[in-house]
Amino acid sequence: MAYATETICVQGSEERTDCYGAVSVPIYQCAAFAHPALGKSTGYDYSRVSNPTRDALQDTVAALEHGSRSLAFSTGMAAITAVMELFSPGDHIVATDDLYGGTPRLWNSISQKNGLQVSCVDTSRLEELKGAIRPNTKAIFLETPTNPMMKVTDIRAVSRIAKEHGCLVIVDNTFLSPYFQNPLDLGADVVVHSGTKYLGGHNDVLAGFAVVKEEALGDKLNTIYKTTGACLSPMDSWLVLRGIKTLALRMEQHQKNALAIAEWLKEQPLVREVYYIGLSGRPDRELIDRQCRGYGGMISFRVASEAVAVTLLESVRLIRFAESLGGVESLMTYPMRQTHAEVPEETRKALGIDETLLRMSVGIESAQDLILDLEQAFRQAG
Ligand SMILES: Cc1ncc(COP(=O)(O)O)c(C=O)c1O
Repeated sequence: MAYATETICVQGSEERTDCYGAVSVPIYQCAAFAHPALGKSTGYDYSRVSNPTRDALQDTVAALEHGSRSLAFSTGMAAITAVMELFSPGDHIVATDDLYGGTPRLWNSISQKNGLQVSCVDTSRLEELKGAIRPNTKAIFLETPTNPMMKVTDIRAVSRIAKEHGCLVIVDNTFLSPYFQNPLDLGADVVVHSGTKYLGGHNDVLAGFAVVKEEALGDKLNTIYKTTGACLSPMDSWLVLRGIKTLALRMEQHQKNALAIAEWLKEQPLVREVYYIGLSGRPDRELIDRQCRGYGGMISFRVASEAVAVTLLESVRLIRFAESLGGVESLMTYPMRQTHAEVPEETRKALGIDETLLRMSVGIESAQDLILDLEQAFRQAG
């Protein structure tokens, strides 16, 4: 029986059996499993390869992303690094230009040394994307909405283009989580996540995921996974499983608060622009509503000057000035100096990531308290 997303979050994808009737998945804090006899296995031999707690988490995330298989990594970057191992020297990848800064750092410092070529373009403009495809292009890597400018790429249209050229489509779905967006349903081949963010949800654990639809691709990725070894520990697997139990509730509250804050920010005299995919009047409104079931909790906004941005960062109290997202606590980030510090200055400027841009991961506190905190911070900046 196929369960609804809310049920999968709490109970997993199928009925679980445990000899003691444990309601919460037990933590198999165990590196090795004994063999019943020569050539026999309980199904588990060594935890780098598989572990029952991690398997429960992987099954849950695969079900949430409508995939056939998911692999749980020690971090989101470990997941993206493993996915890059699907490619060979000489292969080319077309990628979104406005994305988490750690991903281009991986390409610039490691993938290129290993012979991969990457071209970054505005993937929300399909003509630009098509123009970047070469005979050796093997994948299109998307982050949508983009980070931090919140541009939206049409995953279905990109998947169609990719199929014409025999390319894989990889989507970083961290920002919306599987609660609001399922790229595999739109034609993507691989979904990656920083599980550190909405899936974990509490700013207390690092994790990453790669999810696939096609079994052969899953087998290939699993070989890379067990060989390179950046697997998620049993304890951290349990923490993410516990986080996911409330994913549906949290995402609804993140979104409710983000909508209220985005609307409030729009009215502030020191705010020049607000970037949030839930705001009405966006030219890509129809695409967003066709592709996503909700808008999430991520907002970027541009203020009048660098001095205003710095004062806000240093004046917020309830909202913390920190470099992450997707947790229950609201965080404010300075992309230029934090998440995107290593993006070349020229690229950053062209994207609009400058000293006046702030990003907020709206948590699940009272929206009124968050607005009061912003209000007092803006008073100090004004
Ligand atoms: C969208 C996105 N993808 C991937 C990552 C990398 O994840 P991790 O920090 O878990 O390695 C991040 C981290 O901030 C992110 O924001």
